[in-house]
Amino acid sequence: MASSSFQCLILLSSLAFFFFATPSLARTSFKPKALVLPVTKDPSTLQYLTAINQRTPLVPVKLTVDLGGQSLWVDCEGGYVSSTYKPAHCGSSQCKLAESKSCTTECFSSPKPGCNNNTCNIFPDNPLATTLTGSGELGQDVVALRSTDGSKPGPVVSTPNVLFSCGDTSLLANLSAGVKGMAGLGRPKVGLPSQLAYAFSLDRKFAICLPSTSKSKGVIFFGRSPYVFLPGIDVSKSLTYTKLILNPVSTAGVSFEGDASSEYFIGVNSIKVNEKMVPFNTSLLAIDGEGFGGTRISTLKPYTVLETSIYKAVVNAFVKSLAHIPRVKSVAPFGACYDSKKIGSTRVGPGVPAIDLVLSNGVYWRVFGANSMVQVSKDVLCLGFVDGGVRPRTSIVIGGHQIEDNLLQFDLANKRLGFSSSLLFRQTTCANFNFTS
Ligand SMILES: *[C@@H]1O[C@H](CO)[C@@H](O)[C@H](O)[C@H]1NC(C)=O
Ligand SMILES: *[C@@H]1O[C@H](CO)[C@@H](O)[C@H](O)[C@H]1NC(C)=O
Ligand SMILES: *[C@@H]1O[C@H](CO)[C@@H](O)[C@H](O)[C@H]1NC(C)=O
Repeated sequence: MASSSFQCLILLSSLAFFFFATPSLARTSFKPKALVLPVTKDPSTLQYLTAINQRTPLVPVKLTVDLGGQSLWVDCEGGYVSSTYKPAHCGSSQCKLAESKSCTTECFSSPKPGCNNNTCNIFPDNPLATTLTGSGELGQDVVALRSTDGSKPGPVVSTPNVLFSCGDTSLLANLSAGVKGMAGLGRPKVGLPSQLAYAFSLDRKFAICLPSTSKSKGVIFFGRSPYVFLPGIDVSKSLTYTKLILNPVSTAGVSFEGDASSEYFIGVNSIKVNEKMVPFNTSLLAIDGEGFGGTRISTLKPYTVLETSIYKAVVNAFVKSLAHIPRVKSVAPFGACYDSKKIGSTRVGPGVPAIDLVLSNGVYWRVFGANSMVQVSKDVLCLGFVDGGVRPRTSIVIGGHQIEDNLLQFDLANKRLGFSSSLLFRQTTCANFNFTS
């Protein structure tokens, strides 16, 4: 009897320990190593969308993903309600971190998010609405995301002070229905990857894996690998690396003299089709003194855009190496289209000549049929590159179709890009991150 009540006491006290200890453990000692966001593809705009939880109380905010965007920006005119919003006052450390170069001394309205006196601004850049510019108050608010161990989502974690540009509703022009801003994943310290790394003490790297259909969900990882896709494939173990290059001249719609570009550039030295060098003037691939030229990666261009002379040379080379397949009438905006019944299929998409982006040190990024060809109708497949005109700002802009079902890791600390090439080779896809467990 004595002994059994003793046992009962032990049980009760350990239960009490369990109840008291667990909630505080969860709050204070859970340190995520990585975070995840889902990415979907809008079938009508071909934009890649994500959602973050922001404000108090938290609301999901749908955003267009802008890989090279300077910062997060959000429409603050259309019903931004939050008890934790804080404007950044001119001269504060927040304004310095965001490298703000302008200050609103007086906003002529009643105070609200986006309109406060003595606050600094960063411009919400919407590269899809080039005719618009607007300013945005630099603000801070709570953001909550799912953590991950790299193979499935873990507990939600939140941080109180994520800086963003609080702009006007008009800046949402040309964005997908329901979208309330853009998730800028660019290089600056105020970019989402650097801010999340700082807030959660994560490794300064992130990875994107875009879905190839609008029916599936891709993934963005912030922080360290692994990046595990069903059936248990850690893609981080087989990445090829190349240097990330800084373009010293801004490529944004609004910028100040001396601003560097927030976009991610890589050093493509030449292009091969079917292992043969494509002849064109490769000085277009360097970044000149005015910031023109070079190669960047964009989630806002649905297809890779090539400067006119490069475009013509690549299409010619491709057509020559597929000369045995009859062409059909071109479908805009593409130049070379084929009867898809005449093209075989492989594990990595339509069986067409591989296109290689040749990088430094013998490294190349091979683009297979799944990423080079676009199914424009039931029977027509087109080479999915478009003509960017003469003297565009950037000579090659690698677009969404070419990076779907590829994992790209932007390692900011080591200034390098890790790329997987087609995940179809590894019998997985970007839609295979296990969001549901
Ligand atoms: C800004 O300051 C002016 C002058 O003190 C004041 O009238 C106005 O209401 C203030 N505006 C905001 C948005 O706080
Ligand atoms: C929206 O996109 C179209 C097509 O690119 C462009 O012509 C138009 O100017 C854009 N709208 C704005 C407001 O910039
Ligand atoms: C190649 O392009 C550069 C820059 O556009 C130009 O200065 C140069 O003359 C071109 N070279 C040839 C061989 O066309």
